[in-house]
Amino acid sequence: MRKPIIVGNWKMNKTIAETKAFVEAVDSSVSDSADWGIATPYLALQTAKSLASNLIVAAENCHFEESGAFTGEISTSMLKEIGVEWVILGHSERRQYFGETNATVNAKTLKVLDAGMTPIVCVGETLEEYEAGSTKDVCKTQTVAAFKDVCPKCIEKVVIAYEPVWAIGTGKTATNEIAQDVCAYIRGVVAELYGQEAADKVRIQYGGSVKPEGLKTLLEQPDIDGALVGGASLLEDSYIAMIENLG
Ligand code: 13P
Repeated sequence: MRKPIIVGNWKMNKTIAETKAFVEAVDSSVSDSADWGIATPYLALQTAKSLASNLIVAAENCHFEESGAFTGEISTSMLKEIGVEWVILGHSERRQYFGETNATVNAKTLKVLDAGMTPIVCVGETLEEYEAGSTKDVCKTQTVAAFKDVCPKCIEKVVIAYEPVWAIGTGKTATNEIAQDVCAYIRGVVAELYGQEAADKVRIQYGGSVKPEGLKTLLEQPDIDGALVGGASLLEDSYIAMIENLG
């Protein structure tokens, strides 16, 4: 039985003061129906971590090297020092705007796992790829590449987020049927690599215009184990509505 995991990806939103207000308002509402988390900008991580008792606090990225001449980057040790154990990797915005490639996502996945932390690895096709009918090919390529050299024991703790780029921030959610079909396919790719037993333990989230009212039916899909939520995770009321809708 896979416990659902819902993580708010705040992207480049919220100051430290706003983060403090959010965690103070939301943390005590977190229920046991799922693992609930927020991924915040680096600067707010320590504040979020120090105030959260129930929410998982995740970074939105990290570097694959331990230290060195990488201006503007953050290492896993720096995150661990403040108690952050979760990192989103390979988000489509990082792939699209910041030169993230399948190779860097793989290097970061290996580094995060080596540090004993948990990656949330994002995969998903662009609108062009969706319209060309290559959704599954793209997801397979990204999944296989991200987990190259990941050891069989490690794969079980990994979370995968399927985020069709055309559904991110557009209000166009993939239907539950599409999301289920692709998430099942991704699980099949993991099964090809690591066997069915391991694949059955991997949690796969859907992300892209998820709203509180759609969360429950989304999670009823057999291969969808959670959500990576952008816009709807930013307001306290909306986040609490997600928790309440899940019961
Ligand atoms: P939205 O929920 O705003 O579409 O963002 C999805 C996302 O990119 C989460 O990582």
